[in-house]
Amino acid sequence: MKTRMTNLVHELLAGHLRPKDKAIDATAGNGHDTLFLAKAVGGQGMVFAFDIQPEAIEQTRAKLTQEQIENVRLILAGHERMGELVSKEYLGQIAAITFNLGYRPGSDKSLVTQPETTLTAIECGLNYLKPNGLVTIVAYVGHPGGEEEANAVRNWLEKLDKKLFDWKLYESEAPQSPCTFVLRKL
Ligand SMILES: C[S@@+](CC[C@H](N)C(=O)[O-])C[C@H]1O[C@@H](n2cnc3c(N)ncnc32)[C@H](O)[C@@H]1O
Repeated sequence: MKTRMTNLVHELLAGHLRPKDKAIDATAGNGHDTLFLAKAVGGQGMVFAFDIQPEAIEQTRAKLTQEQIENVRLILAGHERMGELVSKEYLGQIAAITFNLGYRPGSDKSLVTQPETTLTAIECGLNYLKPNGLVTIVAYVGHPGGEEEANAVRNWLEKLDKKLFDWKLYESEAPQSPCTFVLRKL
């Protein structure tokens, strides 16, 4: 089911992103989403990719190197520091921001995204989005704290000004499957 929600996001973004676009992967993990974004925006585009784990940054770097991709800035830091670490020149310029919450498959499950920092990053990310830009958030509910984080995201989205943003929740009926929020800046 993880794969299906990731596919949904990639399908949506494949139809949305254009060459030369700029994007942010807020949770680089093993680098699948970063690689996807980098290919989608092409060599003249730009991707910023955050993760708190050096191993995640190195896994992502290895994937990019293998594909000779150079349009990614890897940032070893929490996404909640986006406002400080992504230059202000990109405010209102970013076409898409992806969040794939939870823990990195194959790594320490205690190094997991947290509701407070996730919400800080999403809120900050909205300032970087360009009109019609998308934020995708895949939230897993199968690990401790996952359901609380998904609920926190949902509650936060429900308070957004509907004149400025719209969002949609994609859910599967399968138990423990992740849900995906797709937010658009109007
Ligand atoms: C589900 S994995 C991401 C999967 C990844 N997108 C991929 O394609 O492989 C979640 C990642 O979020 C990272 N993470 C946890 N807290 C974070 C934070 N505050 N800022 C950035 N990344 C964080 C974890 O280290 C982990 O690598």
